Amino acid sequence: MILPPSSASRITLHVSPLPLRASRITHHLFPYLRFMTSRKYNWAILGCGKIAGKFSSDLKLLPNARLYAAASRDIVKSESFASKYGFEKAYGSYEEMANDPNVDIIYVATPHSHHRDHAILCLERGKAVLVEKAFALTTGECNQMIDIAKRNKVFLMEAFWTRFQPSFQKVVEVLESGYLGDARMMRSEFCFFSPYIAENRLYNLALGGGSLLDIGVYPLFWAYQIFGKPSEIQTTVDLAPSGADRSMAMTLKYPGGGIAQLASSFAVCSDTQTEIWCEKGFIRVRKADPQTVKVTVSKKEILEEEFSFRFDKGFGLFLEAQHVMDCLDKGLLESDLLPLSFTLDQMQLMDKIRAMTGVRYPGEI
Ligand SMILES: NC(=O)c1ccc[n+]([C@@H]2O[C@H](COP(=O)([O-])OP(=O)(O)OC[C@H]3O[C@@H](n4cnc5c(N)ncnc54)[C@H](OP(=O)(O)O)[C@@H]3O)[C@@H](O)[C@H]2O)c1
Repeated sequence: MILPPSSASRITLHVSPLPLRASRITHHLFPYLRFMTSRKYNWAILGCGKIAGKFSSDLKLLPNARLYAAASRDIVKSESFASKYGFEKAYGSYEEMANDPNVDIIYVATPHSHHRDHAILCLERGKAVLVEKAFALTTGECNQMIDIAKRNKVFLMEAFWTRFQPSFQKVVEVLESGYLGDARMMRSEFCFFSPYIAENRLYNLALGGGSLLDIGVYPLFWAYQIFGKPSEIQTTVDLAPSGADRSMAMTLKYPGGGIAQLASSFAVCSDTQTEIWCEKGFIRVRKADPQTVKVTVSKKEILEEEFSFRFDKGFGLFLEAQHVMDCLDKGLLESDLLPLSFTLDQMQLMDKIRAMTGVRYPGEI
């Protein structure tokens, strides 16, 4: 079993035992995915930036997603975005779009510094909202967003796409099968090189800059899924001249004895790898190329199985979009796979880590 039983908020997955075979398998994804949604939903994009473009091209793959509206602060930009991806309407302000009664679901894709205000704008108008990671800057902001969603009885979820990837499901399946025994230690990192530019959203604290909130969320996600909430935290940081964390190293200890070594950085390139070390072997998850994730399961130092997950179409963001529609079909106000308690726990942990390393956002109390 996965450690530890102490975390009440760890996601529980219902998976069948792992049928391990000594072979290599490539799963070509998309044609085999079943889309269950019964009605068509009108999607709107808030903020026409880079990830919004990828998300929109993935939305096009879903038969029940109607690309309805794109909203930018600049109408010329939203018109060009709408025509590129096939949205029916373009708005030159986020407010106008949020006021459109035909909009069902809004994807908030602005810098994290603005997630709280933009999500609240939409939630107050009764829209279902999917908010990019990092969900907010602080736990306080996160609580505000959740409270307003609850008060308005509307759906709210963090767009944490890793949770919906088949590679993640495979890792859980292996761990839950008991094939490798208990997970005891892990190492996970997410790093890419980005030169220091003070105004860039990655380094600008006014836009929620810093590697922890931007990419450290991924190693933290893995650690949370495997071990739950940590009881001890150690951190080492390298700050950029702006005060944003350029590189962050974290060692977390868990009540059940688990230990996780995690890192995020804009100063180096890495192969974005997660390794989970268990009593009888290990699991390695790594991106082999932009379209492929490989999960290697090794027992007693022998490579036994390599599962390769490859998207034939899209970037894999369509999985989270489909899940939102599935939840709405079921009348849910939060995801049953990625509950708001996960988001809140992550925000609280990131608050603690930032407090230890002196990374503070403007206006933060
Ligand atoms: N899930 C993933 O794989 C993934 C990958 C990358 C990023 N993200 C997340 O997605 C969010 C956006 O990242 P991105 O890389 O797409 O950023 P980006 O290219 O800079 O786009 C952000 C958009 O936000 C809008 N915006 C509103 N207020 C802004 C302000 N004051 N300054 C700058 N932009 C403002 C802009 O849209 P308009 O000009 O149209 O209003 C801008 O194009 C971040 O929270 C990031 O962490 C997620």
